[in-house]
Amino acid sequence: MYFKVRPLLFLLSAEGAHGVAVAAARVAQRATPFLLDSMFEFAHPSLHQEILGKTFSNPVGLAAGFDKNARLIPFFKKAGCGFVEVGSISARKSKGNKRPRAFRLPEDEALINRMGLNNAGAKAIQPRLKRSAGQNAFPIGINIVKSHDPAITGQEAIDDFCESFRIVAPWADYIALNISCPNTSEGKTFEDPNSLDDLLRAIMRERSQMTRKVPILIKMSPPSQSKFVLDSFYDEMILVSLAHGVSGFIASNTASDRDGLITSPERIAAIGKGGLSGRPICSRANGLVSYLYRKTEGNVPIIGVGGISSAEDAYERIKAGASLIQLYTGLVYQGPGLIRSVKKGLVRLMEEDGHSSIKKIVGIDARSPRI
Ligand code: FNR
Repeated sequence: MYFKVRPLLFLLSAEGAHGVAVAAARVAQRATPFLLDSMFEFAHPSLHQEILGKTFSNPVGLAAGFDKNARLIPFFKKAGCGFVEVGSISARKSKGNKRPRAFRLPEDEALINRMGLNNAGAKAIQPRLKRSAGQNAFPIGINIVKSHDPAITGQEAIDDFCESFRIVAPWADYIALNISCPNTSEGKTFEDPNSLDDLLRAIMRERSQMTRKVPILIKMSPPSQSKFVLDSFYDEMILVSLAHGVSGFIASNTASDRDGLITSPERIAAIGKGGLSGRPICSRANGLVSYLYRKTEGNVPIIGVGGISSAEDAYERIKAGASLIQLYTGLVYQGPGLIRSVKKGLVRLMEEDGHSSIKKIVGIDARSPRI
């Protein structure tokens, strides 16, 4: 079905097509809930896990950025996701950068975006989060970020992050701190061990005043493909995070470089700045997951994201150390049917290899990364 409408969608700009897809999903989640069930239904006990104190019926989730304003939670539940991550949400609402700001690279099955953290703001989004919270076996992660305004720096930036945290944390099954967005004019304010230390101290102080200890995950940038070094920078970020009692990591965000592309350099130059996602970041995101798994000795869950577009990619990412995986660019190219095909394929691949559950394969290849 998606492959029939895709040529039409792809006549639109990347953002225009996203708008149409979001509108269709909103209609579908209201008007045809049972039809959605029968289209996307696939459940299997081997996909089930308990992570972060919650039940995940399967490991396939929606990555941050697709549902920035938390409007599509019922749709992605019906489409068979095991969880969704909404956001990024900031304390202040933001229109984001000027359009055009999202671009398809079909030859690379990739996207470049410089959306600039457009979202309606934590207070406006909170009522929808409240309505969706607390569903059994459908965890909701909430991704928060510093408000997109280069004038907000230093202590003010920490206060801004804490404000979003206070507003949305009560409704989250986990909070993702987006410290790795490549699309802000002020740069990645907190993707530095010292700044992260300050931010986590403040966030953990906020959390200690709440009745529930919501798990906090850090979303990291991918290493560059051409000089794939996982060095002291990553080690320090991991150490700081664990010292503050962070519950896990998300690897990875989009990449700032343009490594590994076959799209013409002229087209790439014409697009300009933005974060690269999709197939070209698959192997490095995989490498980062296995690095994180080894460094944390498998003690905290890792959500693997970046270039996953098949069950085989998801299987590899889980074996590299991810307990859960997320999709974004793959959904743009393949539609929501990808969620079901990844789940079905995972069950098949596990059966072929004689594994009885996802839990048993997490990290089994982390010690022999392919890259
Ligand atoms: C993103 N991503 C993202 N991540 C995040 O933490 N906050 C955000 O607001 C966004 N926004 C966003 C917009 C668009 C248009 C894209 C393509 C991506 C990053 C996303 O969650 C994911 O980490 C990367 O896209 C890598 O996964 P895929 O797309 O290769 O599967």
